[in-house]
Amino acid sequence: MESILEVRDLTTQIPTQRGVLTAVDGVTFSLRRGEIFGLVGESGSGKSMTCRSILQLVPKPGQVVSGTVSYQGRNLLQLPPKAMSQLRGREIAMIFQDPMAVLNPVHRVGDQLTEAMLEHEVVKSKAEAQARAVELLRKVGIPAPEERLRSYPHQFSGGMCQRLVISIALACEPSVILADEPTTALDVTIQDQILKLLVGLQHEFSLSLLLVTHDMGVVAQTCQRVAVMYAGKIVELADKATLFTAPRHPYTQGLLNCVPRIEEDGSVRPLKPIPGSPPDLVQPPSGCRFHPRCPLASDECKQGDFPLLQVGSEQYSACIKHDQVRAV
Ligand SMILES: Nc1ncnc2c1ncn2[C@@H]1O[C@H](COP(=O)(O)OP(=O)(O)OP(=O)(O)O)[C@@H](O)[C@H]1O
Ligand SMILES: [Mg+2]
Repeated sequence: MESILEVRDLTTQIPTQRGVLTAVDGVTFSLRRGEIFGLVGESGSGKSMTCRSILQLVPKPGQVVSGTVSYQGRNLLQLPPKAMSQLRGREIAMIFQDPMAVLNPVHRVGDQLTEAMLEHEVVKSKAEAQARAVELLRKVGIPAPEERLRSYPHQFSGGMCQRLVISIALACEPSVILADEPTTALDVTIQDQILKLLVGLQHEFSLSLLLVTHDMGVVAQTCQRVAVMYAGKIVELADKATLFTAPRHPYTQGLLNCVPRIEEDGSVRPLKPIPGSPPDLVQPPSGCRFHPRCPLASDECKQGDFPLLQVGSEQYSACIKHDQVRAV
């Protein structure tokens, strides 16, 4: 299937007082046209940095040190800042992890929605922008949109703010949306509504969606394919059904073991948390970065490089013992 965004060997580093932190380490994947592709992993695994790197939004002094991001035949990492800002929002939009950090507290909701439309010239006049803003708010399920345009973000609930940032991401009709944990800050019922909304909008606008989450339940509900990140690297990539039924990386299996499940006899399967905690990315473990926490680890896992290799028709794993990983 045709891909719309191809990320190859993306590496992003951040200098810190303790040394250089490699937040994204040789990440390769492609987003296919019209799919929802999940990027999962524990906190600190580099999911947000991957999204930021794609759009050249890595906070200084961090920077992308190598790799390519191909979009419609262009390497985004080589685009000059002006061309990049024309593309951001218009072609590829991002929904940030924390909506309140993106919304401007002193600007009315309507102005924040119309600003990008006018800037990118997707509308011809302020009146047209205003009409489109009303339509967008209605689409994301905000009641009384005409009145709401005059509100300030603090007058919105958390769920409404998230709907608002989704509408801002849609404002310039992008082809690709990078949605960074769009539901994490919300309670479960609102989370479900927002996910359904996103999936509906993705269909309606034929969007290609990169959905970042640390929640396997969200992946199960929404994605077609999934990449699992650990300590800055993709350790497994597969279509959703394969990933859930036949994972080929012990880390994926560990994540699946953390999902509550009711067995056929009605008993609740005990959760098995992954022992230990994610590594320090300034001084990551040698060899496979997961080896200190891995039930299958042996001496050979402590040395060398473990690239992602194809282990099935739509499945890639970085584990040399992938054939020993049992289904969950
Ligand atoms: N501004 C920064 N300065 C220094 N280190 C940073 C900065 N931002 C992120 N990092 C580090 O980069 C690594 C990747 O961070 P990133 O935000 O991409 O993780 P994440 O997978 O999105 O986590 P979460 O699920 O918590 O959002 C982490 O180790 C983090 O500590
Ligand atoms: Mg993040």
